[in-house]
Amino acid sequence: MQIVQYPHPALRWKSQPVVEIDAELQAIVRTMFDLMYEHQGIGLAANQVGLPYRVFILNLTADPEEKAEEHIFINPEIINRRGSQEHEEGCLSFPKLYSPVRRAEEIVVEAFDLEGRGFELTVDDLASRAIQHEIDHLDGVLFIDRMSDAARRELAPVIGDFEAQYRRQQQLGLMPSDEQLKDQLRQLEQNAAAR
Ligand code: CO
Repeated sequence: MQIVQYPHPALRWKSQPVVEIDAELQAIVRTMFDLMYEHQGIGLAANQVGLPYRVFILNLTADPEEKAEEHIFINPEIINRRGSQEHEEGCLSFPKLYSPVRRAEEIVVEAFDLEGRGFELTVDDLASRAIQHEIDHLDGVLFIDRMSDAARRELAPVIGDFEAQYRRQQQLGLMPSDEQLKDQLRQLEQNAAAR
């Protein structure tokens, strides 16, 4: 498992809800935490490791010792949002790219944990921003889509570099074609639905 970078098609995949929380999903989540810490992230969505499942993880401290701060969100839904706030954001699928993004200030989110228990959280500030960013991932929406037009124009060369680098890897045969990657995603989705 590895973190995929823009424009990998998994990042544009709208993931289907998880129908069963099993040992495989638990193992996936553990590996996702390891990868997230390795890259000093505070959140990671399953799309970002090439898996079309509605799951993301969060540890706002980015500290692997802080186990109590580890949160797993399965089939999350934002059921309420309030206010609006602009703040700088980054994403592990766009290394070294940062830009201000406007998001709801406070949200109420519902989800299931890894034991299948439903929970509801009201959060603001960083937690609110991170959860909105990660839920966007599950819908195939990226933070570059949420930037102001001016910010996106300014960053266009950097975003173009990500695309060029990715296509180059495909041309060199270091990475499957988009069609092959989409087939893999469809296959994973079908397997999950059949479990
Ligand atoms: Co991200």
